[in-house]
Amino acid sequence: MGNEVFKSRGLLVSLEGIDGCGKSTQVELLHSRLEQSRIIYLSVREPGGTAVGEGIRQTLLQTSYALSAETELLLYMAARSELCRQVIIPTLLQGRMVLCDRFTDSTLAYQGYGGGVDLLWIDQLNRKVTGGRLPDLTFLLDLPVEKAAARRGNNPDRMEKKDLRFHSRVREGYLDIARRNPERVVVLDADVTEEELCSELWRTLVPHLVGLAEMRKGHEF
Ligand SMILES: Nc1ncnc2c1ncn2[C@@H]1O[C@H](COP(=O)(O)OP(=O)(O)OP(=O)(O)O)[C@@H](O)[C@H]1O
Ligand SMILES: [Mg+2]
Repeated sequence: MGNEVFKSRGLLVSLEGIDGCGKSTQVELLHSRLEQSRIIYLSVREPGGTAVGEGIRQTLLQTSYALSAETELLLYMAARSELCRQVIIPTLLQGRMVLCDRFTDSTLAYQGYGGGVDLLWIDQLNRKVTGGRLPDLTFLLDLPVEKAAARRGNNPDRMEKKDLRFHSRVREGYLDIARRNPERVVVLDADVTEEELCSELWRTLVPHLVGLAEMRKGHEF
């Protein structure tokens, strides 16, 4: 694909990984690097970002009873559909970058590999609700489940076996997604300092920023 075409398509980047692996921390750290490089970008977090999406977020957070994995999946997909149509796709069409703290792979990893929902069904829904615009680049921040639990403030020794098993399935699911999509997914060892991880991420991201609408002419990274 030539640069001109690429430019008009913008750049869709997602950060993925189990709870507590450090995604939101990296979004914060990337913010200053992107600012310094004069890249205007949009940062989104799912579910949310639209009126309907925020309502769904509240529903998912406030639900005291356990939802079935299918119901959860469809709620996330409804929020994603709105976010893609109203926010993500229009921004990409302006030739800009969109940074997603979790996106399509989270649904595959959690509801699919973790919750046992049919992976093919999730994949089809992901393609429908995104209008076929899957991420150009995905960073998988990989961390052992015990270490992620400790970062979340949970004592790994006291974590329920069920919880550990679920998160292990999600982690393995993510690694399987990476193996199946080597052209898109970059696996990073998240068991390093925040700054080390950010430098690694930035090194991979920079070549993809070339040609974006907001890059200052002649700027050196
Ligand atoms: N590289 C790191 N080394 C040690 N601690 C870290 C590192 N990155 C993040 N943390 C800490 O781990 C905790 C979880 O980080 P963060 O909230 O960024 O994870 P997350 O992937 O966004 O989690 P969630 O999926 O639950 O939103 C925070 O307290 C954060 O300060
Ligand atoms: Mg987070």
